[in-house]
Order: sequence, then structure tokens, then C-alpha cells
Amino acid sequence: MSPGTNDPYVPRPEDKFSFGIWTVGWQGVDVFGGPVRPPMPADRAVRKLAELGAYGVNFHDNDVFPFEATPSERDELITAFRKALQDTGVVVTTATTNLFGHPIFKDGAFTANEREVRRFALAKVMRNLDLAAELGAKTYIFWGGREGAESGAAKDIGAALSRYAEGLNLLCEYVTEQGYDIRFAIEPKPNEPRGDILLPTAGHALAFINGLAYPDMVGINPEIGHEEMASLNYAHGISQAMWHGKLFHIDLNGQHGPRFDQDLRFGAGNVRGAFWVVDALEQGGYDGPVHFDYKPPRTENDEGVWVSAAACMRNYLILRDKVRKFRLDPEVIEALVAARAEQLREPTLAEGETWRDVRDAAIDIPAFAERGMGYERLDQLALEHLYGTR
Ligand code: GCO
Ligand code: MN
Ligand code: MN
Repeated sequence: MSPGTNDPYVPRPEDKFSFGIWTVGWQGVDVFGGPVRPPMPADRAVRKLAELGAYGVNFHDNDVFPFEATPSERDELITAFRKALQDTGVVVTTATTNLFGHPIFKDGAFTANEREVRRFALAKVMRNLDLAAELGAKTYIFWGGREGAESGAAKDIGAALSRYAEGLNLLCEYVTEQGYDIRFAIEPKPNEPRGDILLPTAGHALAFINGLAYPDMVGINPEIGHEEMASLNYAHGISQAMWHGKLFHIDLNGQHGPRFDQDLRFGAGNVRGAFWVVDALEQGGYDGPVHFDYKPPRTENDEGVWVSAAACMRNYLILRDKVRKFRLDPEVIEALVAARAEQLREPTLAEGETWRDVRDAAIDIPAFAERGMGYERLDQLALEHLYGTR
């Protein structure tokens, strides 16, 4: 897979591929085993991702410096991270806070029952917002991995949502008063590590945003694996988020249906779904970072980490090429007409019409009931583009 010069699948800056540095830095730990790879300094992650053709990175505060770092250790590690960014030209597109690793967050951060934990969490986020702004991040992610519960009475859900909203409202006020050009993206997930996580799907998060004081500053960062853990269609989820103007960021990876969060490299899970994800992003005009949040499997050594990182971008480019050929295929264009797909873009009422004009709408019921939609022909054409026979 070593891309040659005429390889059409070599990442370019304009592809805007980005990675959470915690992905390639993943040490391969799991519930049943400790690390198989050594810790990866943030500056090495940046330099190696740059070599692969990545455009940008996303980071948690504690990907760059440990929770226990002294102020001087923190400064030293940030300096090394910043130098790697400067040396490589890699952009900090996004940042976030680790509000899940340290035991202090065992019951959550924004929605911890204990008020002191919630106040500490907000301080931790504000500190990293300062660094994020300094490094040029435009989007700040909230993945509430520990916001949730394993049992009923332990967490008053209404109170938890009020505290979640209070925290987000405060942070919107903070960035506004600091003059930071940052907006926020909630990352939904149904479960893991908590038994049930609050704001479990894109739909829950989109609804929640309506309850915030500054809804225009908050969007979502849906992840393929998380929506598919909930047996949902990610392409539909991001299409609705774009319809609301709320797709502020994306976490792309691979997943094989409802099971633990596999965080496979992009394209290595539900492949048919990945084809439609790329099509939805193209059709919807998404122009943000094409961001990967995946975990190199425990089986891999350092070399395997970079093979899998490169493959995330390569698989995206391969699928994007297939999707574009699908959309330009004359037989597909004809099949779309036969499926009356374009008709859906036509408003149901004509200009100036009201309910009065449809109150007694009549239709040739047998004719419409008997007509086929031709979707099987259309989808088979798509699959043959995916399979490479067209
Ligand atoms: C997961 C999540 C995380 C978040 C990351 C950014 O592990 O299930 O996807 O990787 O995306 O913490 O907030
Ligand atoms: Mn995940
Ligand atoms: Mn994620």
C-alpha cells in the first residue's frame, strides 16, 4: 500500500484530514489487558501524522500533558507540542478536555452529583479553552463519556441535564468574554464507559441544544461507531444535523453494529454505511475537518499504528472517488429520475397555496399504489460502484 507518485489516493491538505492525537497514541489497553504500546508524546504524534499527509489534529489537554503535571512540566510539553505544529504546519482544528480518565470524574464532570467536582471540571475546561484558543482551534468537543449512570435513583436526569446546560452556558459565556473564535460540539454516545450516557444519540443532543442559553454556539460532533452502537443510520444522523446547521465536526471510524465501541479505522466496519456517509457529506456540502477518531487494535505494534492511520485517509479517498463516480454515472442519473428522487425537492404546496388547496386532494389510488419505485435498481448500481464492477 505504499502510495506511488501516480497513486490517486494520497492525502492532500485540501482534503482536511485530521486525527485526535489520542488515536495513534492509544496504547492498546482494554478491559482485559494493559498497554501493548508505550505512551506516545504529542509532538511525535503530530510529526508522524504530518508524514502521512494529515492536515490537522484534535487533542485532549491530557494527551499533551498528564493530569498530574506541574506547571513547568505542562509548559515544557506544550512547548514541544507547539514546536511540532510549527515545524510540520499541522493545524489544530479542534480540542477537548479529558473529563473521563481520572477517578475524580468517576461519576461524571458536568453532571457529577458532587458540586465541587462539577466546579473543578469547569475550571479544567476553561484552562484548556485558553490553550485551544492560543493554538487556533475553532471547535471544542464535549464527549460526556462519564455523564450518566448504571442505576436508577443515583442520577436525577432532569437535574443532570440542568447542570449540563448550566456548564455549557457558562463556557459559552467564557469564550465570548475572552473573545475566542470557538464554538462547541457535543459528541453523543449511548453507553460505555457509563451504563447509560446522557445525550446518547445525535437526536438527543440536537434536542438538548434547544434548551441552552446560546444555542447558536453549540452543535454536534456525531461519531459513526456511537450512532451504530444505537442501531442508528449515521448518514441519516449527519444529514439531519446539516439540515439544522449543527454538524460542527465529525468523528469517523468503523463499527460492526451494536456492540462495544470498536473505534475501527474508517472503512473497516460497516462498509456500505461508510459509502453513504461519504455521499451524505458530499451531498450536504460539509467543509469541516474530515476527522478520524479510531483506535489502532491491540494487535498492532508502532508500525501497525501508522499503517492503520494512513488507511483511514486512504479508505476515505477511495470511497469518495467511488461516490463521485456513482453520482456522475448516466445510468444512476436515469435511475434517480425513475425513482422520482428529484420530486422530493419540490414543495408539496405550490406558491400561494394553503391547506384549502389540498383539503380535498384526489389521487389515482390504484395507479399510485401499483407503481414501483425502482430503488432496487438504483441501490444495485450503488453497490456495483462500491464493489468496483462499475
Ligand atoms: C470514545 C469517544 C472519545 C471522544 C474523545 C473526544 O472514546 O468513545 O469517541 O474518543 O471522541 O474523547 O472527546
Ligand atoms: Mn468512540
Ligand atoms: Mn469520538
